[in-house]
Amino acid sequence: KVYTDYFFYEPAFNTHDGGYIPLEEPNVAQQKLKVPELLTPDKETDTDMYYTVTSQAGEAQIMPGQATKTWGYNQSLLGKTILFKRGKNIHVTVKNELPELTTYHWHGLNVPGDIDGGCHTPVYPGESKVLNFKCDQPAATLWLHAHPCPSTAEQVWHGLATAVVVKDEHEATLPIPRNYGVDDIPVILQDRRFHEDNQWDYKADYDPDGVQGPTAMINGTVNPYFDVTTQKVRLRLLDGANRREWRLHFSDDLEFTQIAGDGSLLTHPVKFTHLMITCAERQEIVVDFGQYKPGDEVVLYSDDVPIMHFRIHEFAEDNNVIPDTLFEMNTPKVTENTPVRKVVMSGMDEEVALDGKKFNMERIDAKQTMGNCEIWEVTNTNDCENGMVHPFHMHGCQFEVLDRDGHAPYPNETGLKDTIGVNPDETVRFKAWFDHPGVFMYHCHIIEHEDGGMMAQIQVDDPSHPQEFHLTKMDDL
Ligand code: C2O
Ligand code: CU
Ligand code: CU
Repeated sequence: KVYTDYFFYEPAFNTHDGGYIPLEEPNVAQQKLKVPELLTPDKETDTDMYYTVTSQAGEAQIMPGQATKTWGYNQSLLGKTILFKRGKNIHVTVKNELPELTTYHWHGLNVPGDIDGGCHTPVYPGESKVLNFKCDQPAATLWLHAHPCPSTAEQVWHGLATAVVVKDEHEATLPIPRNYGVDDIPVILQDRRFHEDNQWDYKADYDPDGVQGPTAMINGTVNPYFDVTTQKVRLRLLDGANRREWRLHFSDDLEFTQIAGDGSLLTHPVKFTHLMITCAERQEIVVDFGQYKPGDEVVLYSDDVPIMHFRIHEFAEDNNVIPDTLFEMNTPKVTENTPVRKVVMSGMDEEVALDGKKFNMERIDAKQTMGNCEIWEVTNTNDCENGMVHPFHMHGCQFEVLDRDGHAPYPNETGLKDTIGVNPDETVRFKAWFDHPGVFMYHCHIIEHEDGGMMAQIQVDDPSHPQEFHLTKMDDL
């Protein structure tokens, strides 16, 4: 079966409060897609990996003419891809060379609250700290981004986002592309408006329902092309936009196969011609260019706007078949006694709220015991006429989707997820459990909604090691 629709509630795509900015085809020559290098570990042993991640300001040549002032990790814009091997002890020195405080949030990583990098763990300008944790979760595409309260959106807009790849032994055995930079690449989807002298101006573009620009920027490249030198290419799609959903399809309605979601491989591969990704989600797809010949070009569109070009070169035949089963879910069982927790995302613009409240760093909104599975029932109370799809995200865990308004989840929502688009007037249920203690945020990942207060925090206690969690106060920042 090949799916040809976007699943999500279509009238909600563009209508949000009239502020929606459609993409436009950029009026610049095609440029080679920037594929981020892999970050070189400072040191790696059989058991440990050491990295240094520095937030810094710089300039990036994105448009012809003047360079754009940007922020990034270990480079001027975005960052190098950070690789974690499952089972290893990871040590990351995070440094802040920016003029303001930031945090280092590992979106999708299962780590204790003090490593997670939410708003309670600021790193001040000129300072650094070392994060020590064990990587113990399935192969996946995660990401690192800034998360200071309440300027996450602006810092991400400046460029503080980069891909994180977790590798494990199971994924390594599958006949799927994994030659990084050649047939396995991150594709970070963002959009920007270039003002005078090619500069970004977050304040001028501000919209409380999420900042957008008309120009697609992929891995920091405008109007990119990628040289295809293998029959199959694995794209690790990451919606790194502040608020834009991407409705993706290729020229010729070329079919492609999704193999992974946010936090793991899908249980089974799913074939598409059209695929929507909402903010902060990841979708790994394998595109088979077998029907094309050298000199051909395949175009990736979002809506009707070309956003990326694939230039076909000679390649060797690849007859590998993606297996029908990619991943076994081994998650806690739901029983009649499984507690149900209700969460409500409401409002638009400045009115956004979570459970009727604005986020408060000093307030714990919920508690869950480490290791206990609960059903989370997340409702978007926006109305269908004018509402938005709110992508709900949880820190500190990966969840399993149960249903949407009582119906089966979309076919590509198997496997582990940490972010899920909730349609207007819809309730999504999933089961969630935490493997680590700490205070974790959960929120809408339209980043201006998060900064605008559509966020709450949960305290996860480990009964065998009770501890007090330090909450940073807004006034201390
Ligand atoms: Cu992508 Cu609160 O995070
Ligand atoms: Cu997160
Ligand atoms: Cu939202």
